[in-house]
Amino acid sequence: MGMAKRITENISWVGKTDWELKMFHGNELSTRRGSSYNAYLLRGASKTVLIDTVWGPYDREFVARLKQEIDLGQIDAVIMQHNESDHSGALVELMRAIPDTPIYCTAKGEAIIRGHYHQDWNFVKVKTGDKLDLGGGESLTFIEAPMLHWPDTMFSYYDGCGGILFSNDGFGQHYASESLFNDEVPEAEMMAEAEKYYANILAPFCPMVTRKVKEILAMNLPIALICPSHGVIWRKDLEKIIEKYILWADAYAENQVTIVYDTMWNSTRLMAEAIARGITSAAHGTAVKLFNAAKEDKNDILTEIFHSRAVIVGSPTINNGYSYAIAGLMEMVRGMKLKKKVGAVFGSYGWSGEAVKQLSALLTEAGITVVDEGIRTLWVPDEAALAACEEYGRGFAGKLQ
Ligand code: FEO
Repeated sequence: MGMAKRITENISWVGKTDWELKMFHGNELSTRRGSSYNAYLLRGASKTVLIDTVWGPYDREFVARLKQEIDLGQIDAVIMQHNESDHSGALVELMRAIPDTPIYCTAKGEAIIRGHYHQDWNFVKVKTGDKLDLGGGESLTFIEAPMLHWPDTMFSYYDGCGGILFSNDGFGQHYASESLFNDEVPEAEMMAEAEKYYANILAPFCPMVTRKVKEILAMNLPIALICPSHGVIWRKDLEKIIEKYILWADAYAENQVTIVYDTMWNSTRLMAEAIARGITSAAHGTAVKLFNAAKEDKNDILTEIFHSRAVIVGSPTINNGYSYAIAGLMEMVRGMKLKKKVGAVFGSYGWSGEAVKQLSALLTEAGITVVDEGIRTLWVPDEAALAACEEYGRGFAGKLQ
């Protein structure tokens, strides 16, 4: 998107769509469909506010485009809902032009902005329930949302235009689009990105998500639009994404088993495939998916694990341990704080064969209930070994019932 885009009579999208973004959080999160950094300009009857900014590399472009939309001196307040660099990165460039303009944020937000930019700007600290009067009987109400997903996060509710919830990272998707609204993009691919976003960013904070969604629903506020800080704005069927958040935050699991493995000379892959055959033969209707951790996108694998009721992890034993790819992936799984999932372990080995036991410990540490001691194969699995793996898969399926 180049220029500002009109959302309502008095609200414009003034963010940046980043079609080129392929990795986010350094190298931690793949964003294969790009993303956007959504900023909003809200013109009330007597006050105009800017809600969030964009990532630093786009700061000059952002401020230049904002100047085309409004004389910056007419901005009465900057609302910083969350101050990770992708939203606060343009503050320095913006505040150079309007250094005395108040910045509304939480107490944690002020600390984070100061920690990032080392500037003594005009901070106005807000808490849940605080309002900013926009004139004409309308206001912006702040709702703290700590750990969704940073301690400084807050939402802002505008009571004009039928009610608009500015939700920052909440309900976001790393999804670049020239369209602004959810009803203007292919639903399946956008929802897949919404789930990937939740699994990779918000999953560790599920209890806070549940609390916050319930708190907002209990307010019985009219909400016509949910405007997140990434991806498209929710305009149609808002209940769908709200229901998904309630579902995703509560030990989410579809009827799927995800098998993740690494392999050096294909022995562990052959085991994975045999285990999958066994599960499929015994658990009709269960989706079984296999991923080589060294070859597949790690964040897509994490999303599949998040989506599953069970995860089976395999690695050959190498240097008395498990593989590099599995090690990295399992560290990420540990961080997701998954609930109520079951797991199992397997792997091939040549002499010492410690990996399977170690993988079991990793799964346990990640909060996944390991059903048994797993299965190992010495050297390359022969027909009997593969039959044993199939049988192991059937047994695992039985434990899913
Ligand atoms: Fe989109 Fe947590 O920043």
